[in-house]
Amino acid sequence: MSADDQKRRSAERALDFVEEGMKLGLGTGSTAEHLVRALAEKVAKGLNVVCVPTSDRTAALATELGISLTTLSDTPHLDLTIDGADEFDAQLRLVKGGGGALLREKIVATASDRMIVITDASKQVETLGAFPLPVEVIPFGCRTTEAKIETVAAKLGCKGVIERRGDEYGEPFLTDSENFIYDCKFGKIPDADALAEALNLIPGVVDNGLFIGIATVAIVGTEDGTHLVEPK
Ligand code: 5RP
Repeated sequence: MSADDQKRRSAERALDFVEEGMKLGLGTGSTAEHLVRALAEKVAKGLNVVCVPTSDRTAALATELGISLTTLSDTPHLDLTIDGADEFDAQLRLVKGGGGALLREKIVATASDRMIVITDASKQVETLGAFPLPVEVIPFGCRTTEAKIETVAAKLGCKGVIERRGDEYGEPFLTDSENFIYDCKFGKIPDADALAEALNLIPGVVDNGLFIGIATVAIVGTEDGTHLVEPK
C-alpha cells in the first residue's frame, strides 16, 4: 500500500471524530486534501459543519466541494482541527510547514479545543529534525534574521544548511501572508522545546514549524489499518 493510501486511510478515520454542528479547522497538504474530500462527501449527505481553512489552497478546494467556510474573525473558537504533519515524535511534537502553511496552521490549531494529526506511518520519528524545519520570516531584513536563526540554533546544538525556499519559477516562495520560508536542515533537533521558543524570540521570525503541546492525538495510516498515538 502506498504512502498516499495510508494518508487517505488516516484522513477517513479522522471523520469518526467529527460531530454534527462542529466548528472545524481544516489543514493543508496532501493528507488534509483527502480529509476535505471525505468530509465533503459527508456534507453532501447532510452533515452540518462549518470550517476554517488553514490556507488559500484548502479554502479553494473546500469551496469547490461545497463545504461551508467561516473565518477566525467570525468564529474565533473551534472544536477540532485536523491536519497533516511532516514529522512527529512520541511526545506528539510536530514539524509542520512543508506546504508553507505553518503560520495559519498553528493559529487555527491553537484556536481549537483539540488537534488531530493525520499521517502515514513514515512520519513518526525518534528525534525530530530529519525533515528540514520551516521557519517563516518577514522579508524585511531577512538576511539579518537568517544569521540570527543560525546563531540561536547552533547554541541549541542544531547545525546545518539554512535555505530560503524557492518556488517552481526560481523565485522566493511566498506564504499566504507574503512572508519567506527558511528550511533549516538540522538533521536532528536535540531540544525541540527550547528551539521552538528561542526561534520565536528573534525579531523578523513570524513563527516556526515546531508544534509543541498542541496535538492531542495522531491517527496513523498503516498497511493494516490505522492506529492512534497519544502524547507520552
Ligand atoms: C503544510 C503542512 C502539511 O501538513 C505537511 O507538509 C504534511 O503534508 P502532506 O500531508 O502532504 O504529507 O504542514 O504546511
